[in-house]
Amino acid sequence: HERRIITVADPAAMAKAAAERMIASISENDGRVAVCLTGGSSPKALYQLLATPEYRPRIPWDRVDWFIGDERLVPRKDALHNMSMARQAFLDRCAPAANVHPIATDTADLRDPDVSAALYENELMAFYGAERLDPARPLFDLVLMGVGPDGHTASLFPGYPAVEETRRWVVGVPKANVEPFVPRVSLTLPTLASCREMLFEIAGESKRAILTRLFAGENLPANRARSRNETIWLVDQAALPEDFRG
Ligand code: 6PG
Repeated sequence: HERRIITVADPAAMAKAAAERMIASISENDGRVAVCLTGGSSPKALYQLLATPEYRPRIPWDRVDWFIGDERLVPRKDALHNMSMARQAFLDRCAPAANVHPIATDTADLRDPDVSAALYENELMAFYGAERLDPARPLFDLVLMGVGPDGHTASLFPGYPAVEETRRWVVGVPKANVEPFVPRVSLTLPTLASCREMLFEIAGESKRAILTRLFAGENLPANRARSRNETIWLVDQAALPEDFRG
């Protein structure tokens, strides 16, 4: 499962490249499409682009389902809530409400991420129609990902037991390794790997140090997150370590 690195000029070019990949990935499936979104600041420009007159008509909104790879255990209205960010950026305007699948943070006990994780695991299994992931039938068409300064991805932080989880589809993460220090809920590596394409967005100078370590092959969650099929890292010039600049 090799990964492909695609370099782009800047965050605006990255958003366009990601939108084009998303549209291509959606068009490969003429049935129900499942996209797993990500949180953090990096994907926001992509999300906003999808709602523009240029991109919006290119997505068959009725047959795309939107999931989220990890969530911060804060109320839905909190600015830190990942799915709410995606909703505001595009989903509320573009997607049928029934096609948006948030991780519950309001109905569950806010201090117990395991409750939210179990609910979401059930929802994913119901959507997939089985309790075991079949390598020949990916759960998601596309999984979006980001990389944190410590090499985490989704809410899978280095050295945490959640990274090693192979049985559960979704786990509670009681304490985050980086800001915001709120409990998280995260899809596990095998769940995220069950996709036709995994697409990372990595932009900005603040990512250069961790990219240097990841390119050196360090055993960090972001290096272990691989699609069973295709894994692509979109990297902008500012994030690219010196040695890799063309
Ligand atoms: C989260 C994200 C997380 C994110 C990285 C990068 O909930 O924080 O899902 O995995 O993708 O931390 O975040 P930035 O895009 O903000 O750099």
